[in-house]
Amino acid sequence: MPSVVVLGTQWGDEGKGKIVHLLGKQADYIVRYQGGPNAGHTVVFDGKKFVLHLIPAGILIPKKICVIGNGVVVDPLSIREEIELLEKRNIQVKGRLFISELAHLIFPYHKILDAAREEAGGKATRIGTTRKGIGPTYADKVERVGIRMVDYLEPDTFARLLEQNLALKAHLIEKFSSVEKLRREILEQAERLRPFLEPFACDTSALLNRALDKKKKVMFESAQGTLLDIDFGTYPFVTSSNPIAGSVGAGCGIGPSRIGSVMGIVKAYTTRVGEGPFPTELKDDMGERLRKAGQEFGATTGRPRRCGWFDAPVVRRSIMVNGITDLVLTKIDVLANIDPIKICVAYKVDGKVTKDFPNSRSAQQRCEPVYKAVPGFGAISSDLKRFKDLPVKAQKYVKTLEGILGVKFSVISLGRSRDETIQMARKVTWV
Ligand code: GDP
Ligand code: IMO
Ligand code: MG
Repeated sequence: MPSVVVLGTQWGDEGKGKIVHLLGKQADYIVRYQGGPNAGHTVVFDGKKFVLHLIPAGILIPKKICVIGNGVVVDPLSIREEIELLEKRNIQVKGRLFISELAHLIFPYHKILDAAREEAGGKATRIGTTRKGIGPTYADKVERVGIRMVDYLEPDTFARLLEQNLALKAHLIEKFSSVEKLRREILEQAERLRPFLEPFACDTSALLNRALDKKKKVMFESAQGTLLDIDFGTYPFVTSSNPIAGSVGAGCGIGPSRIGSVMGIVKAYTTRVGEGPFPTELKDDMGERLRKAGQEFGATTGRPRRCGWFDAPVVRRSIMVNGITDLVLTKIDVLANIDPIKICVAYKVDGKVTKDFPNSRSAQQRCEPVYKAVPGFGAISSDLKRFKDLPVKAQKYVKTLEGILGVKFSVISLGRSRDETIQMARKVTWV
């Protein structure tokens, strides 16, 4: 099948936006299948910087069709802002973006409840969410009280469902805001937003299946990363969706038989935003150096990202649960002049060495990294185009990672722009 999934193998921010901008040139359709405006995908080209939250990064490639699947949670106000901002910057969106009628919507009360949950137990229970209302919106979906795009577009249905939701949540909402005020605000907003959003909404499952029938190439762009997956991440310090490849089918309405290759994006070190276990975290000058060199500040919230050494058990877990066929290495340039470079190859947990990422939440906190130190390399010129032009020690670093992970890199990214990339002889496979 001519489809490729592009996903994050760590805790998000691996450089998915850049890689979709690079490889999406080969695609006809680029599709988000989960997450919401918690994502921040940065694309830098021609001296301009774009940060996409809900719209696939493929929108920045002329003529590509972009789809927001049913598995994504959409904030009606944010999506309009994102569309308008792009159009202001001369990126045509109308006619190229399709939003699933089945996508669940985020309303102001979801954001209030997100923040309330973060504050309720103080530091002990805080997840460090983006406060975009993600968790409460997915909770409503599973609780079967969610409001979908198709409901929003029918004024009577929407008014009835909103009332039902406000009644259900009134006891909580009233602690932080007023139900009356929210009702007015949301209904007024819906009147204004409905005509704007209507042309974008459609049955995107039918759209994508027809495209695949015609052998069109489809790229699925994940948000977040596997260690933030609600099932396979560091629960409860995760997001409320499944970024893993297995959720593409449910998040887009296509069958698993239509998924071809799975491409995992790997940052040459590790970062994490928000709370939760992070075995290779560096709280010293080296962590600060990585943050500075890699400009590791959240694309959505601006928070400084926690930084640490490369963690192989994390990436190996990702390779396994996603069935990764190809790897992309990003930000190797950030490691320039660091000597030695450390790679976590295993953990010591209670005196025992393991190569596997543990499932126990307490063991995740107690993992002591077992490091392999490898020689560093000098600066890498970002315009290199062939692997053999990399400094020999950098080539060795890449090969060491491949050996530890058991999968080869198809692409090595040396900078923010898509020109700053080495594409290996092994081409991306659309099967
Ligand atoms: P995403 O959420 O996975 O799309 O990643 P983000 O956009 O949140 O964070 C990745 C950051 O690294 C962005 O600022 C990118 O512009 C930048 N970036 C991507 N690839 C490279 C690279 O190879 N080298 C450097 N120095 N920066 C990169
Ligand atoms: P991209 O797509 C990094 C993190 C939050 C928090 C946890 C739960 O840019 O890689 P949520 O708001 O989803 O309920 O927060 O998940 N998080 C991300 N971290 N990159 C992201 O997206 C993230 N989206 C959510 O910081 O720890
Ligand atoms: Mg990001």
